[in-house]
Amino acid sequence: MIREKSGEVASRVMEDVQSLERGLLDGSEQGITAVLQVLGITAMLFWLQPSLAWLVVLPIPVLLLMMRNHWQHTRKNWKTVRESAGELNSLLVEDIQGNRLIQSFALQEREHRRFMLQANDLREKTLKAMYRWSFYNPLANFVGTLGIVAVVGMGGWLIMQDAMTPGALLAYFIYAGMLYEPLNRLHGLNHMLAAATASGKRVFEVLDHPVDIEDAKDPVPYPAATLPRIVYHDVHFAYQGRDTVLDHLNLELPAGKMTALVGHTGAGKSTIANLLLRYYDVSGGAVSINGVDVRAISLKDLRSHIGYVAQDPFLFDGTVLQNMVLAAPDATEDQVIAALEGARAWDFVSKLPNGLNTQIGERGIRLSMGEKQRLTIARVLLKNPTLLIFDEATSSVDTETERYIQEAIDNLMTGRTVLVIAHRLSTVRKADQIVVLEHGRILEQGSHEALMERQGHYAKLWSYQNDWIPTAP
Ligand SMILES: Nc1ncnc2c1ncn2[C@@H]1O[C@H](COP(=O)(O)OP(=O)(O)OP(=O)(O)O)[C@@H](O)[C@H]1O
Ligand SMILES: [Mg+2]
Repeated sequence: MIREKSGEVASRVMEDVQSLERGLLDGSEQGITAVLQVLGITAMLFWLQPSLAWLVVLPIPVLLLMMRNHWQHTRKNWKTVRESAGELNSLLVEDIQGNRLIQSFALQEREHRRFMLQANDLREKTLKAMYRWSFYNPLANFVGTLGIVAVVGMGGWLIMQDAMTPGALLAYFIYAGMLYEPLNRLHGLNHMLAAATASGKRVFEVLDHPVDIEDAKDPVPYPAATLPRIVYHDVHFAYQGRDTVLDHLNLELPAGKMTALVGHTGAGKSTIANLLLRYYDVSGGAVSINGVDVRAISLKDLRSHIGYVAQDPFLFDGTVLQNMVLAAPDATEDQVIAALEGARAWDFVSKLPNGLNTQIGERGIRLSMGEKQRLTIARVLLKNPTLLIFDEATSSVDTETERYIQEAIDNLMTGRTVLVIAHRLSTVRKADQIVVLEHGRILEQGSHEALMERQGHYAKLWSYQNDWIPTAP
């Protein structure tokens, strides 16, 4: 099971794949030619003078043993090297992403030290791997050369006995020399392949990682004929290795109506959305759309019919237009502008230096939270789905932005089935149905008026509104 940090995964995908690729390409090309050369020359040596050939090949078994030994140790060493490099990468990614935080807490010194320690660790482990090589390589060369020395000695004796001409010995000598060049290349390959094997293991750990969400084998088409009615039937769910989040939950989102989900932080609200979108699957019970279990629908089909505005708005580095058309690649510019107007985002987008073609994100203009949110709402408007999940961002925005966002949400609501995970009073009041969730269980359910009359949890939430609602209505 790998649950790795993003930098660590990046290191596997980039560096380990590269090391594996080098191992495979060079390994197969150079390895095969070297082995063929060794075999061919050995045959030649035996054909020319069998008694000398035995001397030449005498060191080869010793060399093979040395190779095996080096292979075993180096592979282990390279494994630790690759792991350490992955750590260093994830540290780097974390530091770059969190650079503001590091500055605000004046943690530069600490991060610098952490980085230095990890870099040192990588250096030491790499040196250890190379240290072994620095012994193995010359030693293997030396052992190989012993064969040639023996040929010179034995050949000299044969010449003195008139059993061989000096010319024949010279020819033999050249052939024997040619035997050790490919053998040396094999030593180098041995070293490289040990590194590639360690990398290969890491790459395959990623590739062989079982998918958490299995796509439907015989998918049923998404039931798009009528407005979606969602039913959570006896749903039980826990994140891997954690406590129960949803405890035998029964919930219906009526077709064409808006349901608001409220409750304290950690109650399981976003989890309810995750199950409908199949980012996770229920561990018991079922979630269905118009009577069809979401697990029976192919993931692509399912998600293409659902508009989802996540709690933390995410935009890609690129222009506003590029970010918008992700939802609908064929949309015309007029449609994009209409969606932006609907989400009350056109006002600020039209004022950007290049309007729709302004770069946003890391390399462009940075947007405020409220602006990002309205862009993500516009993106969903452009997609125009009949089922919508809106996980309101918890961050506070000023009253004017709040009003804009509210208007944007109002525009989203008509003629759709909507699930809003609400943090704002203004959103909750408009809902056809309000569901109060605590510790994965439904405490109360009904309209705003009905719940206020009950004087129960919802009414209490209202009176403590500042606990869970960042801005007043
Ligand atoms: N990916 C995850 N892996 C493990 N545990 C998680 C994961 N996501 C959420 N949890 C846990 O599940 C519980 C419910 O989380 P959830 O995100 O559904 O809460 P929420 O009601 O949306 O809260 P908030 O109002 O803060 O957004 C929390 O205890 C949380 O720690
Ligand atoms: Mg949430």
